[in-house]
Amino acid sequence: MSKMIGVLTAGGDSPGLNSALRGIGKAAIEYHGMQVVGFRDGFRGLVENRSIPLDNSQLSGILTLGGTILGTSRDKPHRMNIGGKILDMTDVILEKYRLNHLEALVCLGGGGTQKNALRLKQKGLNVVTLPKTIDNDVAMTDMTFGFDTALGIATDAIDRLHSTAHSHHRIIVVEIMGHQVGWLALGSGLSGGADVILIPEIPYDTNKIAEAILRRSHGGKRFSIVALAEGALSHEEYKELESGEDNKKSEDKKKKEKKKEEIPLELLAMNKTMGLAQELEKLTGLESRITILGHLQRGGTPSAADRLLSTRLGTACADIIATKTYGVMVAARGEGTEAVPLEEVAGKIKYVPLEHPWVLSARRLGVCLGD
Ligand code: F6P
Repeated sequence: MSKMIGVLTAGGDSPGLNSALRGIGKAAIEYHGMQVVGFRDGFRGLVENRSIPLDNSQLSGILTLGGTILGTSRDKPHRMNIGGKILDMTDVILEKYRLNHLEALVCLGGGGTQKNALRLKQKGLNVVTLPKTIDNDVAMTDMTFGFDTALGIATDAIDRLHSTAHSHHRIIVVEIMGHQVGWLALGSGLSGGADVILIPEIPYDTNKIAEAILRRSHGGKRFSIVALAEGALSHEEYKELESGEDNKKSEDKKKKEKKKEEIPLELLAMNKTMGLAQELEKLTGLESRITILGHLQRGGTPSAADRLLSTRLGTACADIIATKTYGVMVAARGEGTEAVPLEEVAGKIKYVPLEHPWVLSARRLGVCLGD
């Protein structure tokens, strides 16, 4: 009886998921003589046993497709909304894993998925994960697939914003995804030639940004592009966050926070982006406008680099399963891969180091980083 491998895609979608599925599936089927079954919509599909056999016909023609043919969700195995109740479904997942006679379960996902896979490892499942996210914030891997494609989309957007900013002598603040890290904003800001790059790792001072923009303006450059990571914080917001974590909140602050909690994260970020643009217009006298790239950065066909990365991680995943190496993430390491124990990955976030070559390069160019 050939081994049966289960695969699922979880968390935010990203370019490269389908090319990764193709790499895993074709290597498992063609080279290792295994069978592959896909579960729909992340961990929820496994709980509900909604599956689709992945054979060569299902895997053909998907290399260039964005998104994920399996569907995805942000459902967590240990805290899943079942009919309005939040339940721990890890035992049900173990039951479905056995029902499908799985030799191993492959989970393609970001930081949250690595944590969820570790929980399933601790339940006794043979799990292997691949690092996926446009944020590039998964620890212990050189890169995540999805990042390069999003980098290209954001860079193209910054290129396009230059022509209109230049024509109207404006400040344009472009909000870039990345959740709590600044890889996408820093990378696309550098490759797109942004004049200001604001990332979560470096709290910013709006007055210093305005001074940098005015210096440019007085030097004849009467426009500026500000690449703003959605998770970037001003010094005040940073202090508020810290004090909020350290000290007990006053009643009225709690009520304000409660109100804030009801606003989706993306809307909060948008308000912040709008607020920064208005503040800069006031401080510099230059007109300002905003652009929110949002889910454009997750759309469309994967770049060649993401196809290459996701394919080689996928085929390496099949090889790792063939050697019965479980409880690991298939990490990108140089030209090759490394099987990293999930305990070393889960719960960690890969922030931009303050001395990273990209940060140093930005400073050498005279890019304002808000500090
Ligand atoms: O993690 C990828 C990501 O695109 C983040 O950059 C962004 O903050 C988040 O997902 C948006 O989540 P959702 O697609 O659930 O709105």
